[in-house]
Amino acid sequence: MSVHVVADSPAKLRAISGMLMHEYDVTAEMLGVGAAFSAAMEAVVVSVDLRVLENIATLKARLASLLSAPKRVFVVEQSTRLARAQAYALGATQVLVSPVQPAQLLEKLANKCALPTGATEIPSFGEEVAAEGAACFSAMFQAVMRGSPIDVAKTRRAGNKITDYISEHGLTDWLAIVRLHHEGTYQHCLLVTGVAVDFGLSLGMARRDIDRLHSAAMFHDIGKATIPLAVLDKPGKLDDRERSLIETHPMAGYRMLLGTADIPKEILHAVKHHHEYLDGSGYPDGLSAENISDIVRILTISDIFAALIEQRPYRPTMSRDAAYEILFDMKGKLESPLVDAFRRVAFSR
Ligand SMILES: [Fe+2]
Ligand SMILES: [Fe+2]
Repeated sequence: MSVHVVADSPAKLRAISGMLMHEYDVTAEMLGVGAAFSAAMEAVVVSVDLRVLENIATLKARLASLLSAPKRVFVVEQSTRLARAQAYALGATQVLVSPVQPAQLLEKLANKCALPTGATEIPSFGEEVAAEGAACFSAMFQAVMRGSPIDVAKTRRAGNKITDYISEHGLTDWLAIVRLHHEGTYQHCLLVTGVAVDFGLSLGMARRDIDRLHSAAMFHDIGKATIPLAVLDKPGKLDDRERSLIETHPMAGYRMLLGTADIPKEILHAVKHHHEYLDGSGYPDGLSAENISDIVRILTISDIFAALIEQRPYRPTMSRDAAYEILFDMKGKLESPLVDAFRRVAFSR
């Protein structure tokens, strides 16, 4: 495999290239200087300080010709949401935080994650759809952090494309693409949207209703923009304070969207209540069954399933069968006929 390295200092260029040269055909370039690379390049590693505005401008111009590489690993200087969001907005498919260990980088490039059985080929169209969705989440989170308006129309377009992709190619391919190329909250949101859309399709919902569903799924965790990454991506068990902090995200998301034009009330309701359970044990309001809408019931099942099958670097990926077993055991909290209907989505679609 050929890998092209771009860095903003000779020391970084040497360090990254040195980690890769025993495993891959490596070409290297200093940012702003340019260099030839293989037309069949399969990965690019970018180690550039994105806090320097000039670097971003130079990189944008250069990346136009490097985005053909299916794997684009960015090494950022700080473990902040902004640094990660900037990297994804520039086209990263995966992000590492400096200082990087050789094993971390090699693992990212080797894509050591399990492809679901039968998913032997990943269509590049699906990668484009997933990348557009991830860029949309990145833009949405950045808008929230800056206090600027959210582009609702762009989010709907991305949700429509995900729906079209899953209608044509099915859920298994979508899960494979998203888990191979995306991580963290963006991976989660892409998975939830795909699972929710496929659940809607399996239930025979009309396209108009599926559009409502993908809108709810795309926006459901926007409140996580306010939660520190150290808590969101914590490998171990959360303590009480961290758990309480996480549980603020539905209400925070609701408040963020409240003043946004073109967000229907039912989407606001879904964002606020996607962690409610029928038995009243959920949050933030402990709603009981009669106050939880159909769209929320579908979204909640999709959200739990997607969270269970996420690809995380610090734990093995749970199989779809095992995730369904957990959902099945939550029947008092989730709508029983829907959990039964979800079996088709979990096992065979
Ligand atoms: Fe959530
Ligand atoms: Fe979620």
